[in-house]
Amino acid sequence: MAVTINGKEIAEDVVSKVKLSAAKLIEGTGITPGIAVVIVGEDPASQVYVASKGKKARECGFHSEQHTLPAETSEEDLVTLVEKLNADPLIHGILVQLPLPKHIDSGRIIQTISPDKDVDGFHFINVGKLGTGELDTAFVPCTPAGSMLLIDRVLGRDLSGLNAVVVGRSNIVGKPMFNLLLAHNATVTIAHSKTKDLAALCRTADILVAAVGRPQMIKADWVKPGATIIDVGINRIPAPERGEGKTRLVGDVDFADAATVAAAVTPVPGGVGPMTIAMLMANTLVAAYRSAGKTPPRF
Ligand code: GUN
Repeated sequence: MAVTINGKEIAEDVVSKVKLSAAKLIEGTGITPGIAVVIVGEDPASQVYVASKGKKARECGFHSEQHTLPAETSEEDLVTLVEKLNADPLIHGILVQLPLPKHIDSGRIIQTISPDKDVDGFHFINVGKLGTGELDTAFVPCTPAGSMLLIDRVLGRDLSGLNAVVVGRSNIVGKPMFNLLLAHNATVTIAHSKTKDLAALCRTADILVAAVGRPQMIKADWVKPGATIIDVGINRIPAPERGEGKTRLVGDVDFADAATVAAAVTPVPGGVGPMTIAMLMANTLVAAYRSAGKTPPRF
């Protein structure tokens, strides 16, 4: 039976280190790490995410700002706000919550954020740095960065000789995950909806990362004995056993089934989820250290 990788506990570990390092920066330089989170419109899920980011930032001792704009905000007004935050010395990290309303070009907004404040790691400069291995000056997207840290805790930093399969080719998870695993010496394959015999490919994986958004797709017979599985999926499915109309969260992996074959698996919830917000705090701290000309801590 596999070990359950406790993302909540590892995320708390990261946050403790962020708090200590923030206090040290404030004491040594007078600089308080600052984050600005921008939300446009009233999507309830986005509002919950944004509120929890602000709460965690305050818990870390950061200066935290939330900019809430109406759904009908023009693209030009949003660009103006981002440019203002780019120039604001109190702000070291900027996050524009996605998705944005349809009339706004998200790509343009992301590329307007200064690469030095791009704590989401979505700017082309940061994507390029990750792709070329310039990790000391890059920002890595929070979900893959958190997933990599979990792998690190299970298998160590050097993945030489191990086969990794990433299921899903998104810009936010799959592609950065590929680059991170490669930077740690794994032999990496990306699988996606057009891959032939996905189950057989997954069975070659010492490290299997699932990020496709298909509830409980990965079963025990897809898993190599002794594999480490990172489940990035968050899917809400009906749970009639909890009462009429009730739902529950599951990952892309059938946890109970896969755990009979794997050595270690992340649960959903309580695996990758808590790591994402912890890495956002870590990225913001790193941004503040860099702006102060100090060497940031490693996570
Ligand atoms: N919406 C859902 N996840 C994310 C994320 O990681 N960053 C941003 N900016 N928006 C999101």
